[in-house]
This record gives sequence, C-alpha cells and structure tokens, in this order.
Amino acid sequence: MTEPIISVRGLSIRYRTKESRVYAVDDVSFDLFPGQVLTLVGESGSGKTTAGMSILRLLAPEAEVLGGQVLFEGRDLLAMDDKHLRPLRGRRIAMVFQDPVAGLNPVLPVGSQVAEILTSHLEISKKDAQKQALQILKGVGLADAERVAKSYPFQLSGGMCQRVMIGIATALNPDVIIADEPTSALDVTIQAQILHQLDQLRKTRGTAIMLITHDFGVVAQMADQVAVMYAGRVVESGGVMEMLKAPLHPYTHGLLATLPRVDGANEHLRQIPGQPPELTEPSERCPFIPRCPKVLNVCRASGAPKLELPEGRAHLVACYNPIWQAER
Ligand SMILES: Nc1ncnc2c1ncn2[C@@H]1O[C@H](COP(=O)(O)OP(=O)(O)O)[C@@H](O)[C@H]1O
Ligand SMILES: [Mg+2]
Repeated sequence: MTEPIISVRGLSIRYRTKESRVYAVDDVSFDLFPGQVLTLVGESGSGKTTAGMSILRLLAPEAEVLGGQVLFEGRDLLAMDDKHLRPLRGRRIAMVFQDPVAGLNPVLPVGSQVAEILTSHLEISKKDAQKQALQILKGVGLADAERVAKSYPFQLSGGMCQRVMIGIATALNPDVIIADEPTSALDVTIQAQILHQLDQLRKTRGTAIMLITHDFGVVAQMADQVAVMYAGRVVESGGVMEMLKAPLHPYTHGLLATLPRVDGANEHLRQIPGQPPELTEPSERCPFIPRCPKVLNVCRASGAPKLELPEGRAHLVACYNPIWQAER
C-alpha cells in the first residue's frame, strides 16, 4: 500500500484564554493518501478547523499543541522551525478557507494575487506571472479571465472568489490541499462545480485533498476516506463505502439519519437531539454518552473508548456498543 503523505498522530490541542479552556482536539489520528480525498466530518465545534489549521501551524495564538505529530514525508511539521515550514506553505501544502472573500486581499485585483503566489515561490518575471495567472483563472472555470483578473474581490460573487482561492491554492501544484468547508457559503449549483473542480485536481494531478465538512452529502459525493469527529475526537474512521453502508458509531448513524431522503420520510429528523459537550476538560468518558441511544453501563463505567477495529469489520470505531448491520 502507498504511504500516507500526511499522517496525524495523537494530536491534542487546547485553547487557553483568560476566561476558559477548550480541549478542541483530543488524541486525534488520521492519514491522508496521495490522490485521495479524506473528509473530516462532524457538527460545528467538533474540532475540524482546529485540526486542519494545525497542519500548517496556522492556529490562533491562544492555541497550544499539547501533544502529537503531523508527519509530512516523514518530517514532523509541528517540530519544524519556521524557516523550513515557510517554503512548504502554499507550495507543497495549500489551504482553501470557508470564506473566500476574507481569504483574499480586498485592496488588490485578484489577478495580481494569483501572480503573487507565483513570483513569491518561483523565478519568474512579473509579466510572465500575470500571463500565467490568466491561465490559472481559466483553469478554474473563470471564462472571462481577463476581466476577472482586473477585478477586486468585492466586485466578484462568492463562487467566483472561491474559484480564485482554488486557483491560488493550486497554482504551484501542491501535493496536498486542505479545504475547510470550501462550499458552505455557496449555493448548491456553485457548490457542485467547486467540488467537481477539487475532484478533477485529485484525478489529474494526484493531489491529496483533506476536505472538511459538516455535510454527509458532501462526504458521500467526494470522500475516499472519512474521519468522523465528535467533541474533539475521531469516533469512527475508514473507507467511505464501508461507512455509508454500515456506520458503526451511533453518532455517525445519527448524522446519516439527518440526511434528506427522497421520500421525505425523515423531514422531522434534521438534527441529532441534544448538544455536544462543553470541552472545558478532556473527555474522561465517551463524550457522546448524553446523546447516545445505545449507551450501556459499561460506557459510564469506562474511560473514553479508543479507535479500534471491531472483529469482522474493515473500519475503525471508538465505541463500546457499536451498531451492527442486523440492528438497522
Ligand atoms: N481561538 C479560539 N479560542 C478559544 N476557543 C476556540 C478558538 N477557536 C476555536 N475554539 C473552540 O474550539 C472548539 C473547536 O472549534 P473548531 O475547530 O472551529 O470546530 P469546527 O471546525 O468543527 O466547527 C470549539 O469549542 C470552539 O469554540
Ligand atoms: Mg470549522
């Protein structure tokens, strides 16, 4: 089997502010493989963005890495000095953020912003970079590239800005793209186009894509591998087919049940009842206990369950009482 290009191992991150502590990421591990899409999926507040931002060390100053590693080609990005990390940013590993407008410089035409990533990493004249920028904008489906290049972000739609962001992220042909809810702010048609664009990159260039989303519809459409996050922990992970066919964790099961169905049979069931816990302490027990329809005494009496491979299964789950196919 191929080696992962990014391997996150035992990552724990806490935010510390004057008022509070938040254990946002708690002993998280996952692997991202070349040419594959890994989706991190979970409700808002489950630690997806924190996990994604930690890879390029873009976390807010109040974040502390309590432990773990982010291995890229065998080197730990968390232990690397800035001098070595900087050339990787944008060039080998690129990010696409949720809010395309905030991700772009408001006072610079977008063509110049695309050109800038080229001149900052490559030996290339400004003029050639401007020319290449037009090609890049065309490549992300912006037909009227000349006009778009001269525009400022506020003159473009959200979808167009997101395409520009993807153009910037892909300009240097990175090995890895981390896309944090890249389509959440966009309408459904544009969402489909942007996802298609990412999928093309994976197919044609073998880019590894880590796609963060709260939407299992996006997972079903895009993922090869899935890591389901709840309360800062990965509670289930594995291949997308396996997981859609036979989700093991009651939380994953609940998320899938909230997906709209063609017959409208689950109209009332758009959310899992209850709230995720406050993360002011690391979870000593399974964090899903208060919302879990399958909780047992063993869950309340034991430490937080670890990700394990149940016998006869092909994917990992952190649960003392997983759901077996026969029950569904
Ligand atoms: N800068 C910050 N300071 C304090 N807490 C934060 C900060 N950023 C995120 N958090 C908290 O960390 C937890 C995880 O947040 P986040 O990683 O953004 O989750 P997600 O992307 O899954 O919505 C949440 O409880 C959130 O409120
Ligand atoms: Mg987020």
